[in-house]
Amino acid sequence: MQRTAGPRTGAARIVERVDELFAIGRAAGANRPGLSAGEDEAFRRARGWMEVAGLEVRPDPAGNLFGRLAGTDPGMAEVWTGSHLDTPPDGGRFDGALGVAVAVEAIEAIARRGRARRTLTAVAFRLEEGSRFGLPCLGSRLLTGAADADQVRRLHDTDGMSLADAARRVGFDPSTMGPDPARLATIGTFVELHIEQGRLLRAVDPAAVVGVASEIVAHGRWRLTITGQGNHAGTTAPADRADPMIPAAAAVLAARRALSGFEGAVATVGRITPVPGGTNVIASAVSLWLDVRHADATVTAAVVDAIVADVRAEAAAEGCTVMVQRESMSDRVTFDPGLGLEISGRLGVPVIPTAAGHDAGVFAAHVPTAMLFVRNPSGVSHAPDEHADAADCVTGVQALADVLETLVGDINPAARHVGAGDE
Ligand code: HGY
Ligand code: MN
Ligand code: MN
Repeated sequence: MQRTAGPRTGAARIVERVDELFAIGRAAGANRPGLSAGEDEAFRRARGWMEVAGLEVRPDPAGNLFGRLAGTDPGMAEVWTGSHLDTPPDGGRFDGALGVAVAVEAIEAIARRGRARRTLTAVAFRLEEGSRFGLPCLGSRLLTGAADADQVRRLHDTDGMSLADAARRVGFDPSTMGPDPARLATIGTFVELHIEQGRLLRAVDPAAVVGVASEIVAHGRWRLTITGQGNHAGTTAPADRADPMIPAAAAVLAARRALSGFEGAVATVGRITPVPGGTNVIASAVSLWLDVRHADATVTAAVVDAIVADVRAEAAAEGCTVMVQRESMSDRVTFDPGLGLEISGRLGVPVIPTAAGHDAGVFAAHVPTAMLFVRNPSGVSHAPDEHADAADCVTGVQALADVLETLVGDINPAARHVGAGDE
């Protein structure tokens, strides 16, 4: 049975804060690409939340933001909680934003009870989605050293802007980006709360408002560049055509066939860019991006191979060439089973896998890491219709606060924090 303590936090404030970020650069959905003005504005808002909570706030060289609530025993490993603030194009209201808003709320709720032994840190990571520069979880990968800083600086978006230039535009000196082993060494445990993406929780336990993650499946992204011969849409005879859109169409259909051909796999083409993209023009080239996921990385690779083989066969028949570039590949991540089971038992909530990548997936290689999911009734994510009920968000805060309280050690009510949560 789900534990439901009385609300110790403001549902209204959680919703306000998530809505506040959703409105930044909003079109149909949230549009806050990594290192864009929109993501930077979201970081400014989150900094404000952390300051109101009385946290000691500072960024790292990659632009990740940390709000610390110092513990009474600074020598003890810290407890971190947080998520990201960037979004995919037309993304949802809660993806990332909820985890940061709830982290601040949960820490503030604990601060109102007194001072913990361990330092509690709320964190907002940069560049989690990977939509702009191709490689996801860049903020957490830079911090942990999982991404090579020189390679990262050279990444560029489809407008040709390098990540280094984008960082300078939002006020960071990219030359200082890089692993931060000293900061990494301060972490004892990392817990990320996130809206569930998909609706497995409802299938496992219709009454469950919160779930605990067991694993993240293997997943990767590949860019296919198909080159043909630009030509006139009207005057080019069939025999003279080398139309790259034909192999591109084969990729889309092969991705869909993979869903039935490989049990448990998903493959998606969500982004196709023909050049020049004229209505009366046969494209000269087409770039498309494959997103492929499966619990087992070797099956993920087999799915990609099968799709690419179809594209190459179609390209050969059409007189086109194909270049395949792997932009990212994340192996399957299993979260700390002991921590996950302890949380699941304590909260009375189910444990479920996810096919969505997260910064927690990066930290799992370094420290005991857990994820909490808040129920998403429709399961829709990476789209404006993403939704979580306000009451469920508050239950998420309570669940996270419960988990953090068990991790931070004794809370001394006499040692209250100045400013933190003082009404
Ligand atoms: O794409 C993902 O898996 C994550 O939601 N960024
Ligand atoms: Mn996310
Ligand atoms: Mn996402």
